[in-house]
Amino acid sequence: MSPPRPDLVIQGLGKRFGATVALADVDLRLPGGSLVCFVGPSGCGKTTLLRVIAGLETPSEGKVFLGERDLTRVPVHRRDVGMVFQSYALFPHLSVAENVAYGLRIRGVPRRTRLERAQELLALVQLPDVGSRRVSQLSGGMRQRVAMARALALDPALFLLDEPLSALDAKLREGMQVELRRLQRRVGITTIIVTHDQEEAMTMADLVVVMGDNRVQQVGPPLDIYRRPVNRFVAGFVGSNNFLPGRVVSPGQVEVAGVRAPLARDAAPAPLGGEVTVAVRPENLRLRAQAPAAVALHGTVVFVRDLGRVVETRVRVADQELIVSGRGGFDEGDGVWVELPESGVVALTS
Ligand SMILES: Nc1ncnc2c1ncn2[C@@H]1O[C@H](COP(=O)(O)OP(=O)(O)OP(=O)(O)O)[C@@H](O)[C@H]1O
Ligand SMILES: [Mg+2]
Repeated sequence: MSPPRPDLVIQGLGKRFGATVALADVDLRLPGGSLVCFVGPSGCGKTTLLRVIAGLETPSEGKVFLGERDLTRVPVHRRDVGMVFQSYALFPHLSVAENVAYGLRIRGVPRRTRLERAQELLALVQLPDVGSRRVSQLSGGMRQRVAMARALALDPALFLLDEPLSALDAKLREGMQVELRRLQRRVGITTIIVTHDQEEAMTMADLVVVMGDNRVQQVGPPLDIYRRPVNRFVAGFVGSNNFLPGRVVSPGQVEVAGVRAPLARDAAPAPLGGEVTVAVRPENLRLRAQAPAAVALHGTVVFVRDLGRVVETRVRVADQELIVSGRGGFDEGDGVWVELPESGVVALTS
């Protein structure tokens, strides 16, 4: 059995460019062998964090460890990382196989061995027959797979990808998300993928790191982040949400829009009596023509949109508008009851 892969540990990391704070107070432990996604809006520091991990940027403060090994001062070529960027950065004058084997050539691996290895890697990324072609003859999706094969050629300890799929069209991107996930499972290398697409992060990752405001906002498995966001930023960034002002009236109960609703087990417990923001997912609300036994809010349908798979209904409740996604069946102007989830709503304090 191969030894377990070490965790990647980041401690008290910060990075400034002049007066610009690109990263502050980053503490992370990423389990060896996992697939991690860094996700967040533009400018929140995702690329900077990945570059610090790769050794392409020196942090202003803090440390990076791979297991016991302090990488903070280790130069990029000694860090044992394979990287893939948004643009493929392949050598156009080399064949596909020569591109994949490039790192091996630099290391002085004999031609035959390295071309065999390139062939193996091309099979791994589902491109077994293109080794002798020129890069210019490949589609964008194929090029990105070649770039992945090249990054994996030296069997790195860390596989780092910065928005690797963002240049691809939506259909191809979906296919590649699945492929990349399967590829990572096969090779088992600790992998970090930067994306600003939260859906991409949610479908691929074992662990999602949500970044915002140049800090880490929340770290967790995708479903935890979805069900128990720690603050309003995360609740709004990952999936869609309805937000309403509320107040915690008893442990496990919140007053919202004139009713008392049960509280879900939150990531950040709200204090008794405190003002909170109540978050409830559109798919967790149900529309009823008659007052249901469960806790519900009465309102008027103001807009209906049939999205094929689901119907999105907007309901005005007092001075708020709620989005409900489900089976629909109501028209603009209808009076409806919006049933709150029995499993409870989420109360956010920040
Ligand atoms: N070399 C640099 N010099 C000066 N400022 C920089 C440099 N690199 C990044 N920054 C700044 O640091 C902050 C974080 O940038 P970064 O590229 O890490 O964000 P990002 O999350 O990757 O954004 P995007 O989704 O747009 O790629 C931004 O304010 C950016 O302008
Ligand atoms: Mg970036």
